[in-house]
Amino acid sequence: MPVLTSGTVTVNDVGPRDGLQNQKKTLSPSQRVQLVESLLAAGMDHVEVGAFVSPRVVPAMAGTDEVLAGLTNFKNEVLTVLIPNLRGYEMAKAAGAKSVCTVLYGSEGMAQANVRMSRLEAETVNAEILQQARADGVRVTSTIGVAFECPFDGPVEPGLVRDIAAQFLELGTNELGIADTIGAANPPQVRALTNALVDEHSADRISCHFHDTRAMGLANVFAALESGIRKFDASIGGLGGCPFAPGASGNVATEDVVMMLEQMGYDTGIDLDGLMRASELAQELTGTAPGGRASAWLKRQVSLQ
Ligand code: COA
Ligand code: ZN
Repeated sequence: MPVLTSGTVTVNDVGPRDGLQNQKKTLSPSQRVQLVESLLAAGMDHVEVGAFVSPRVVPAMAGTDEVLAGLTNFKNEVLTVLIPNLRGYEMAKAAGAKSVCTVLYGSEGMAQANVRMSRLEAETVNAEILQQARADGVRVTSTIGVAFECPFDGPVEPGLVRDIAAQFLELGTNELGIADTIGAANPPQVRALTNALVDEHSADRISCHFHDTRAMGLANVFAALESGIRKFDASIGGLGGCPFAPGASGNVATEDVVMMLEQMGYDTGIDLDGLMRASELAQELTGTAPGGRASAWLKRQVSLQ
């Protein structure tokens, strides 16, 4: 199948959630607002800004209500918060969230480690939240975590992921995310799964989330693009990792994904110079964001001029 290199691709920055949750250094809500604002200033219109999870379990996400309160001027952007359960949904709604991300699991081990539920319990909770959110007019992304491999239970059967995806698309989720939580997928696996999903459901409501643990993040984005996927999660400066998934490193860097997409001819609506500033801010605030490869390349271009 030829790669269509025109049209729009949406990039959702998950750095302020997936990235920051794994940092030793906890940022204040106002620093988190500053990071989100730098992404919005670069033209990003989809950002995952925080999570309503147990502050004992993930201290870095405490104060997500204050982060949302600091972003009330942004009415047209899709600002999403991650929630693990109904309690989280109620907290998100009370804080004014208009978009939530809920998590499904490709394995028992990860469901237990992340939310102390069985995989099926998590599906029931996800379905309850979806029903409530639809009644409330709140947008939902249902993401299948460890969709390729689990650090506890090993490889995940693609048929199981397809069944869960079909179930939640049928229930009416706005977006179905496929997450390679630990960065274990390779491009042929990604292509096989996304081809099957796109054939079964079309690409409209499907997105992909790749971690760059083995430097295959961009190759996996490319493979999913070939299948027709047009929405990707990425993390500014490559920030990230999951505290409950041993071995997971950061997401594929937003600046690298955007640079590749733009050079391939896609329109992301995102300004790379603005992203460089956001990436520098992420590095300055955390001290650990590795920074995408795009950054050094662009700086070199500037110095050659
Ligand atoms: N946000 C904040 N607090 C929550 C909460 C939420 N979504 N859900 C439950 N709590 C509180 C409970 O009220 C309770 O508080 P208390 O001790 O003051 O009464 C406490 O957390 C424990 O509740 P319990 O139901 O026993 O949950 P738990 O200790 O088994 O933890 C989760 C369950 C889901 C809250 C916790 O594992 C969690 O936050 N996981 C998310 C992990 C994550 O963010 N992973 C990365 C993203 S994929
Ligand atoms: Zn992730």
